[in-house]
Amino acid sequence: MSGTQIESILTEARTFPVPEEFARQANMDQAQYEALCRQAAENPAEFWGKLARDHLHWDKPFNQVLDDSQAPFYKWFSDGELNVSVNCLDRHLDSPTRNKAAIIWESEQGEVVTLTYAQLHREVSRFAATLQDLGIHLGDRVAIYMPMVPEAVIAMLACARIGAIHTVVFGGFSAEALKDRIEDTQARLLITADGGYRAGKVVPLKHNADQALSRSSHAVEHMIVFQRTGEEVNMQSGRDLWWHDLAAKAQVDCAPLAVNAEHPLLILYTSGSTGKPKGIVHSSGGYLLWSLLTTHWVFDLKPTDVYWCTADIGWITGHSYVVYGPLALGATVFMYEGAPTYPDAGRFWDMIEHHRVNVFYTAPTAIRALMKLGDEWPNRYDLSSLRLLGTVGEPINPEAWMWYYKVIGKERCPIADTWWQTETGGHMISPLPGVTPLKPGSCTRPLPGIFPDIVDEEGEIIQSTEAGGYLVMTRPWPGMLRTVWGDEARYIENYWAKFNNRFYVAGDSAHRDMDGYYWIMGRIDDVLNVSGHRLGTMEIESALVAHPAVAEAAVVGRPHEIKGEAICAFVVLRQSHAGEDMDALAQTLRAHVADAIGPIARPDEIRFTDNLPKTRSGKIMRRLLRAIARGEEITQDTSTLENEETVRQLER
Ligand code: WT7
Repeated sequence: MSGTQIESILTEARTFPVPEEFARQANMDQAQYEALCRQAAENPAEFWGKLARDHLHWDKPFNQVLDDSQAPFYKWFSDGELNVSVNCLDRHLDSPTRNKAAIIWESEQGEVVTLTYAQLHREVSRFAATLQDLGIHLGDRVAIYMPMVPEAVIAMLACARIGAIHTVVFGGFSAEALKDRIEDTQARLLITADGGYRAGKVVPLKHNADQALSRSSHAVEHMIVFQRTGEEVNMQSGRDLWWHDLAAKAQVDCAPLAVNAEHPLLILYTSGSTGKPKGIVHSSGGYLLWSLLTTHWVFDLKPTDVYWCTADIGWITGHSYVVYGPLALGATVFMYEGAPTYPDAGRFWDMIEHHRVNVFYTAPTAIRALMKLGDEWPNRYDLSSLRLLGTVGEPINPEAWMWYYKVIGKERCPIADTWWQTETGGHMISPLPGVTPLKPGSCTRPLPGIFPDIVDEEGEIIQSTEAGGYLVMTRPWPGMLRTVWGDEARYIENYWAKFNNRFYVAGDSAHRDMDGYYWIMGRIDDVLNVSGHRLGTMEIESALVAHPAVAEAAVVGRPHEIKGEAICAFVVLRQSHAGEDMDALAQTLRAHVADAIGPIARPDEIRFTDNLPKTRSGKIMRRLLRAIARGEEITQDTSTLENEETVRQLER
């Protein structure tokens, strides 16, 4: 965010009361909210235990709610057993939900496919049986690299049915990123498609998957390929298998395997402040409970709702709010494969009108991009089915909030600005639409059972309503990450060590106003937020220095109107490349980063320099580079710089 945006958020004073009509029908009203908050504070074991018993189907009931004997490796419901796919599918089959749409999917070309709960159950069972036939067992890792098609959801739930741990890799990530994740998880199987569609073009998933595997030091035994585009692909005999061939042979039934509540359901990689993304591990019981509860409370889902979360399943938002939360509730999920503005800027609004979407959840970057295209687009469509809006991924600037509220929600729909992270499993700080008055730009107050605080460098709680500090969680919750895959030390180091394991450290700074509302100010580590996606500056830097022309690189963010942050890279070339065509080289390096990580990491700008500004102890002065990237005047003291003239060269 730019300085002025932060300014406007900090001085934002408008409040929007809860519409009475909404409050009357809400899944949670003021009295329930207060009772839950009180219970959570006074008797957490009773609070969480009751919710877990009331909302989930257990094959073996648990006795112990929280085991904190090895904190901060917390365990929840850990003597209980359940199956996640049973909770999302089988348990709905004895009710009218059986024949209700679980997924309504629309392709970019406009085809529509509907799967009822009974049909989805059948496909998941069939695919789970296929996985079993291929020898996939409890605890095996399965990588999923798929477009946004129902088969991606089927693959995830099939893993859950047999206790395999899925790791979904966003289809927009490169072969290299896929390779890293396959190696880190030691996946036995990769599920992909021949391709996917985006903005009228084909994304060559199978081709990328081939490249990933050819570079990988770890070999998967099989690759299952779903035929989506019909493009010709190379099938390696013995290793690669067509989804449709397997489905034709598979038996339809696959008994679900009850797993321990703490058994990992999924691993999902996210960027941190080091070069290597972390595999965030989520559990079966606690994660499912938290994604279900937050979907119910925050999105106020009703059995008759059509609900649409625009996130790709490659992100945690897609896991919790396209798949696990809504399906566990028996909701109807709308799913779209394609670009938001294809074939034109009305596409999202057209689908909301056509499918009568009631609850709509998207990201500030999408809101800003659509806002920029003009009100005439949404105004052409009937958006009266909408009753609730949501946003996630980064702080929303009040201007975009107001546009969303007025032009999309027609001043009728509450907006849930949901603060959470890959690590938290589900929403943490968010308005409850029937309870919480809204302030544009604030994610408002914690959900019942969640206890955030703001602390200073010493870990002291900040009471001031103006000063910002570290956003921390002072109590564990069931949806929290359990560890970093294969790296317990990193789990401690990243999330707990800073304040001696006393708090979960989110990595964001925030402040709390006099109404107890939280205002997220941004990341405190070297993590960028580009279009709501986390990218480590180190990750981009290591991609750059891996190129033969680059001697050294430093990456910083700068405000961007639509993406939130743009990526600016300062690059020192090797002597041998000094005389080359700079424009061409910049293009090459941008493409190189896109290839190494994925197109979202492509630097917006590359600046060549002879030196990076460093302190005498050799630390790159990132603050200075940030100011230069923003085109701000350098007011910092540069006298501690080892190479002061560098700054002047960079300012040009
Ligand atoms: C980071 C987490 C959780 C799904 C999407 C991103 C930022 C997220 C908000 C919000 C202000 C937000 C934070 C957080 N963030 N939601 N409503 N207001 N900031 O997940 O990739 O794990 O990123 O996104 O900085 O730490 P993620």
